[in-house]
Amino acid sequence: MRKYLFIGLALSAVLFTGLHAQKKSWVIGMSQCNLGEPWRVQMNADVKNAGDEHTEITVIFKDAQNDNLRQRAHLEEFVRAGVDLIIVSPKEAAPLTAPVRDAYKNGIPVIVLDRRVLGEDYTCFIGADNKKIGAAAGRWVVNKLGGKGSIVELKGLMTSTPGQDRHTGFRDAIKGSDITVIFEADMKWLEPNARKEMESALARFSGIDLVYAHNDPGAHGAYLAARSAGREKQMLFIGIDALQQEGQMYVRQGILAASFEYPTGGREAVEAALSIFHGEKVQKEITLSSRFFTKETIDKGGEVLTN
Ligand code: FRU
Repeated sequence: MRKYLFIGLALSAVLFTGLHAQKKSWVIGMSQCNLGEPWRVQMNADVKNAGDEHTEITVIFKDAQNDNLRQRAHLEEFVRAGVDLIIVSPKEAAPLTAPVRDAYKNGIPVIVLDRRVLGEDYTCFIGADNKKIGAAAGRWVVNKLGGKGSIVELKGLMTSTPGQDRHTGFRDAIKGSDITVIFEADMKWLEPNARKEMESALARFSGIDLVYAHNDPGAHGAYLAARSAGREKQMLFIGIDALQQEGQMYVRQGILAASFEYPTGGREAVEAALSIFHGEKVQKEITLSSRFFTKETIDKGGEVLTN
């Protein structure tokens, strides 16, 4: 009896794997933490364009509008709907950890894009190395300011991992120099917040040499505040993202002195999803490379970041 049960189980396993391999079309649920920023619109466009090249996959896009609870609900809906794979770019690490884990434990592959969750309960993480980008920005600043100066740091949302890493990478790199961060604030990735924080910094400090913002909208917000105060020529502004129509354009216009690229990973996420659908193994961690742009390098496509 036991023997038959075993043969039965083995047969159904073979049948199941066979059927799975024969599957010809797949549905991906994509949860974006917000679409209020150009960089996120670009990420969705990158996913869509890569997805459009494969008629066998359909992507359902959801926008969490910067709300953790809404994003959590997306993941639960995707699980209930039985999608074949989830791509998620989480708003914050802690609140999205459990829903990502639940989907993953339910047997749905989950690709986490750009911002991390806590722990390792997901299929694959794709993103650039934010510590490395922060450190490159720090080294660039030390060099540009000749090792000394007063700077403002406008941080991204510090409950999201890119904000934390861009901060630590930068601070490690300026250690040992005479550069002082005289003002720092969490602008939560948003240009209007950055503008407001910069107004406070300008009101408090007469000598600011440079503003390091964790993204280009933040750097641009700071620039606008300084321009309103008639002080934009007294300091430099640098940011991260380097979208062609945003950061790179600001560098061309002379608004930003440098912008460090943060690739969206949208195309790579679709490629990883296809590998998973075809039963191939994907790496747990896919690290994207990055470049940086200054006035001198922008026409030759920027420079690749080294360590
Ligand atoms: C957009 C954004 C980007 C930044 C990324 C970090 O929401 O703030 O500007 O590079 O998120 O996750």
